[in-house]
Amino acid sequence: TGTETRPGGRRAARVLVVGSVNIDDAVRVPRFPGPGETLSARSADTALGGKGANQAVAAARAGADVRMVGAVGTRDGGAMLAALDADGIDTGGVARLDGTPSGRAFVFIDDAAENSIVVLPGANHAIPEAAVREACLALRPGDVVLLQNEIPAATSRLAAALAREAGAAVVWNAAPAPETAEELVPGHDLLLVNEHELMQVARLHGVTAAARSAAGTDALLHGVARATGADVICTLGAAGAAYRVGGETGLAPARRVEAVDTTAAGDTFAGYFAALAGLPLRERLRRALDAASLAVTRPGASPSIPAKAEVESLSA
Ligand code: ADP
Ligand code: NA
Repeated sequence: TGTETRPGGRRAARVLVVGSVNIDDAVRVPRFPGPGETLSARSADTALGGKGANQAVAAARAGADVRMVGAVGTRDGGAMLAALDADGIDTGGVARLDGTPSGRAFVFIDDAAENSIVVLPGANHAIPEAAVREACLALRPGDVVLLQNEIPAATSRLAAALAREAGAAVVWNAAPAPETAEELVPGHDLLLVNEHELMQVARLHGVTAAARSAAGTDALLHGVARATGADVICTLGAAGAAYRVGGETGLAPARRVEAVDTTAAGDTFAGYFAALAGLPLRERLRRALDAASLAVTRPGASPSIPAKAEVESLSA
């Protein structure tokens, strides 16, 4: 039934990602153009992106059995489906929509490595409810459903509710940061956020803390965990991640690396953490942090996500 047994007897985790698929157009520019200005790009590159797709790729590279629910345009979605297929992801739940463009991110990166991004939601905002319902029918207890915030909240909420009914664990990466309470996804078991997203989610739950500081982040993390009854992990860039999971709290440091492009760092952490549900917490955090730290050492989104063997070799 799609569940593989790996050498050593551990069963591969089953991860269902319900989320965005984008065409990422990354354009290197000497500086950002002003109004009415035309600039020559230094280079341009098109690759698979979107938080949903990136996290599906990360979970697959971590060794999970991954299915994806989402939507792309019939006219321009082929290359993205092929890229997901190449990572062994089951794309049967990714709808092909006529007359709707695929989601697309136009990313300008200047010589100082700052970026400036315009996103076209496209097909990501037209994921058919039937695709969500059908994929959730196949869920079993122990499966993980991984959600983000680049598709309509109603779709994520439906997936979360059906996942809970099926006994699957719901992991919600609240990224990009929700701006209104309507964007919250009730019923998640684990919230994954960065510091900015944590502040936003906390605000929407009426949780406040003193100025931005380690103690402030800690207070928000515990406040949100109390308000939602869910576990919370807040990634802290080069500082690693603060967590409150299953009653355990702590700060897990990141490996020291030379960061060249932090695109997909959070997605790599999310996909790996979801995929490694069978590991003890400390090891699960270690691997997910190591995978994310490797992703920042190279350019791009999904192309920068490391394979399992590479992550394991760091701790060997
Ligand atoms: P996001 O990209 O979602 O804002 P973070 O910046 O918190 O997320 O990064 C997520 C994870 O990526 C971190 O927990 C860490 O493992 C890794 N990471 C990010 N930036 C660095 C860095 N400069 N050095 C080492 N690891 C990093
Ligand atoms: Na990267």
